Amino acid sequence: MKIFLDTANVGEIKEGVALGVVDGVTTNPSLIAKEKRPFRPLIEEICSIVPGDVSLEVVATDFEGMVKEGEELAQVATNAVVKCPLTKDGLKAVKYLSGKGIRVNQTLCFSPTQALLSAKAGAFYISPFLGRLDDIAHVGMDLIRDICEIYRVQGYRTQVLAASIRNPLHVVDAAKAGAHVATMPFAVLEQLMKHPLTDIGLKKFLDDWAKLGEKI
Ligand code: G3P
Repeated sequence: MKIFLDTANVGEIKEGVALGVVDGVTTNPSLIAKEKRPFRPLIEEICSIVPGDVSLEVVATDFEGMVKEGEELAQVATNAVVKCPLTKDGLKAVKYLSGKGIRVNQTLCFSPTQALLSAKAGAFYISPFLGRLDDIAHVGMDLIRDICEIYRVQGYRTQVLAASIRNPLHVVDAAKAGAHVATMPFAVLEQLMKHPLTDIGLKKFLDDWAKLGEKI
């Protein structure tokens, strides 16, 4: 499973990429707005730092507007992936843009039927939002499992990008379900690395070594 950072913060992205475990980045209008930086230089910088795909979201809601913005965003860099919402016009835009060879991440997916239509339209990625379903007492992970099964059984090549991840268990369960990608905030990536027994064990090793008084 690939690991993407769900952020538009250049500092976080640089740190994640330097770790060597970040394969890509997803952004959305809320994440971009948080950075309070001019849009175009920001997305160009992000695309230049990241080795893999960077999702850049349209803000138009009509078909023509999404296509126009999508074509512009796709020009930003070769690793740019256009993000379109899962609406009627969004589906039409996915069909059109993928027909032009532009890769699309279809976002704001909350049901298996939406995911089925998105795959039929030719989406490169589908983004089911786990955490936001959990927030309203629906089991978000069931959606990931359903979509993975449907795509596998039906032979769709659209990649399942588990989004709205809030904690390490979401990452573990998405990996078990067969999601191709999990996108997460930097804080969750940090949580994935941490274990108290690692810290305790390392301290004991170093204390014992210090008592010995040797050098490597
Ligand atoms: O980028 C889309 C998604 O990951 C947003 O997550 O935490 O705002 O629901 P969240």
